[in-house]
Amino acid sequence: MRIKCSRRIKLVILCLSSLCLVCLFYWNMTRLDSQSSISLEVNSELLWWTQDMSWRYDEIRHCGLKICRVTNNRYRFRHSQMVLFYGSNLKLYDFPMPRYDNQLWALLHEESPRNVPFVPHDDFLQHFNFTSTFSRYSSIPLTTQYLPQASDLTRSDIHMGLSSKNVYQHDMSLAPVVFLQTDCNTISGREDYVRELMKHIPVDSYGGCLHNRDLPESMQNDYLNHLYSPTILHFLARYKFMIAIENGVCEDYITEKFWRPLIIGVIPIYFGSTSIRVRIL
Ligand SMILES: *[C@@H]1O[C@H](CO)[C@@H](O)[C@H](O)[C@H]1NC(C)=O
Repeated sequence: MRIKCSRRIKLVILCLSSLCLVCLFYWNMTRLDSQSSISLEVNSELLWWTQDMSWRYDEIRHCGLKICRVTNNRYRFRHSQMVLFYGSNLKLYDFPMPRYDNQLWALLHEESPRNVPFVPHDDFLQHFNFTSTFSRYSSIPLTTQYLPQASDLTRSDIHMGLSSKNVYQHDMSLAPVVFLQTDCNTISGREDYVRELMKHIPVDSYGGCLHNRDLPESMQNDYLNHLYSPTILHFLARYKFMIAIENGVCEDYITEKFWRPLIIGVIPIYFGSTSIRVRIL
């Protein structure tokens, strides 16, 4: 049986569907409008300058109150207000040239001065408007990046008293000094110092460099990746002194080699950043 609609109902249906269409159209328009207003606001472009083009990065994101485009597409160089460089990837023959007026350059470098030797020098750094490196003089310093948190320096759960250390030294014939390093070819000449020291004072060396004592079997596996594990920290806390020599000697370049002995109550025998000072309280 056919459903008969009165003219009136037909009219109402027609009105409703037209209304829906208008709504849909309006909603779509505002949506497009808000999208175009976003793209209008993209007035900053940041370019990550990298040689590695195997991955593409191109994203619109919030930069503070503004909206900006961040990309590693080199063809955007001319349009970029800021170019970002990552220290370890820098190649001196691969800088974007010529540099445009008013273009800001920023450098992030978190690694040892040994790995990219030209980076810490003023002649090089002068080309950047902002830097973030281990130097406290950089715009956003990473000087304490190897100290997990300040409160680590006052935790005492790992500390061991002198009498306990003496017992370990006597009963387990531990040396007073510990050395745990794999890299035996450093610019700072760390290995030469330790080799000489070993002629005068017993030093327990567990790492690949000047090795003379084995780590317990349970710790041998992959210890380099667990340098802050409680097992390693307790193990090292039994010593009185620890060799803490950076692989590169450079002002403010301070790694876990310095912080770790302090966290576990062992006196660091330190050579590295000249900005380290001892204050006897
Ligand atoms: C950014 O650094 C370059 C090179 O040192 C310099 O010529 C330029 O004036 C700097 N720009 C600003 C805005 O400070």
